Amino acid sequence: MRKITRWWSLAVAALLLSFTASAQYLNTSASFTESTVTEGDVLVLLVPEHENTLSVPGWSNESNRHLQRALSAADFTGKARQQADILAPAGLSFDRLLVLGVGAPSEFPRHSAELLGADLAVYVDRAKAERVVVDAGLITGASENRDIVAAVAHGVDLRNYRFDRYKSEPAARPAAQFTWIVTSRSNTETAYGQMNALAQGVFIARELTNLPGSDGYPAAFAEYARQQLEPLGVEVRIYDREQVKALGMGSLLSVSEGSQHKSHLLVAHYKNNNDERPIALVGKGNTFDTGGYNLKTNAASILRMQTDKAGGAAVVGAVKALAGQQAPVNVVGVVPLSRNMISGEATLPGDVVVAGDGTTIEVANTDAEGRLILADGIWYAREHLNARAIADIATLTGAKVGALGTEYSAVFTDDETILRTMREAGDLTRERVWQLPMDGYERVIQSRIADIKNTGAPGAQAGAIFLRHFAGDTPWIHIDMAGSALIDSASGIHPEGATGYGVRLLTEWVKLYSGE
Ligand code: BES
Ligand code: ZN
Ligand code: ZN
Repeated sequence: MRKITRWWSLAVAALLLSFTASAQYLNTSASFTESTVTEGDVLVLLVPEHENTLSVPGWSNESNRHLQRALSAADFTGKARQQADILAPAGLSFDRLLVLGVGAPSEFPRHSAELLGADLAVYVDRAKAERVVVDAGLITGASENRDIVAAVAHGVDLRNYRFDRYKSEPAARPAAQFTWIVTSRSNTETAYGQMNALAQGVFIARELTNLPGSDGYPAAFAEYARQQLEPLGVEVRIYDREQVKALGMGSLLSVSEGSQHKSHLLVAHYKNNNDERPIALVGKGNTFDTGGYNLKTNAASILRMQTDKAGGAAVVGAVKALAGQQAPVNVVGVVPLSRNMISGEATLPGDVVVAGDGTTIEVANTDAEGRLILADGIWYAREHLNARAIADIATLTGAKVGALGTEYSAVFTDDETILRTMREAGDLTRERVWQLPMDGYERVIQSRIADIKNTGAPGAQAGAIFLRHFAGDTPWIHIDMAGSALIDSASGIHPEGATGYGVRLLTEWVKLYSGE
């Protein structure tokens, strides 16, 4: 019999390892030094764009001449993300020399540095290099040196994550030791520490999103989040079915009644400033979407619907990142958790459910379940947590993918400050957002028999209008991230599988909005 490592034993291991968290998801290491390092498998030079010939301080004239010849043969000028892979000059104790362009360092954006890091991770993995030395000495500005190295190292880490818990014989994980030669060791360690905390948030989001339906049901999701968050000082509460029912959240409740795994609500609060009212992040945690009685009837549409919890995973990841960074914010993650299935107990199309705020909802389509669980999550954040602002994030509609594909998320809001800060966070992290209108679409969710119904056309707008109803007067934004939860083959900073989309966007947004 093949032995598959049980999910629970891994969860316990995760608890034990929580402060050496990089070891949990990565087998690589990073260390920083101000000294030269003279030996290794690969030496990497980060090189700004230059017009004159390049000369590396400390190298012999002969080594520099070798480098200059090789670079001019490769037409290498240091343009952003340009690569030249050359044999190391005699006299250096390295096998290979990889030269990477960083363009003009003062104009090298964080996401480009991260992509360059991903390029480096791919190179190192292919070369099977074990000891990698990255010399950033040619980036002379102190803050540029620090920020570029931290972001490149972050890109390396993001690309090196693997979801291999179900492989009997996992392919060897990338395990190189990276040594970074920098201007200031302590400053770079601090900057990388912040990026590392962010990466840990992305990893937990990928892990939760990747989990198959059998193991990633509501209670298991909530318990995993608890084990990851509590050691960082996050206060976690988990409401089970009876408690969800007692709170009156009939809309959240209704989505899982067809499953043996009932609806839960996860609330994770990280308070590290004196703001009385928290910023709330509400994420769709539908742990599997069969569609319910409006069944997803073709193989392609139902396959991988375990990733319908990616919004909830992004919220858990963002709270983990903010706590890991010890960011001075007051943030609460709210994740309504469900499993949309069929049985004698399941909601029928046309049923009417009653949400926590008393709104009656005609369930015109059981496959529009995300808004049903988010409605109660948003209401809970407003009514029970007195949130100062609410951002919800969800794999909500196929219509969003039709409108924007995956390059942008669709956002809907009436609040200019939230929109501006969300755009800023999106541009910084390259998890970009594009606003779609709600004005004029108010009537599309009118129901003949109840207060509102859960469908309407156009699809993405109908979802947003529906959710807005539950935010009331609280400043609110809805992020439809459908299509961004998963990729089939590795690309840029993402290995194949769950992307952890939204963690970086939300983490930066909470910090920006918090300062408003
Ligand atoms: N989880 C899906 C949306 C989705 C589809 C996300 C494909 C990612 C990829 C959502 O619950 C859903 O089924 N939406 C329906 C709504 C419709 C029935 C009103 C849709 O968009 O088709
Ligand atoms: Zn659905
Ligand atoms: Zn769904």
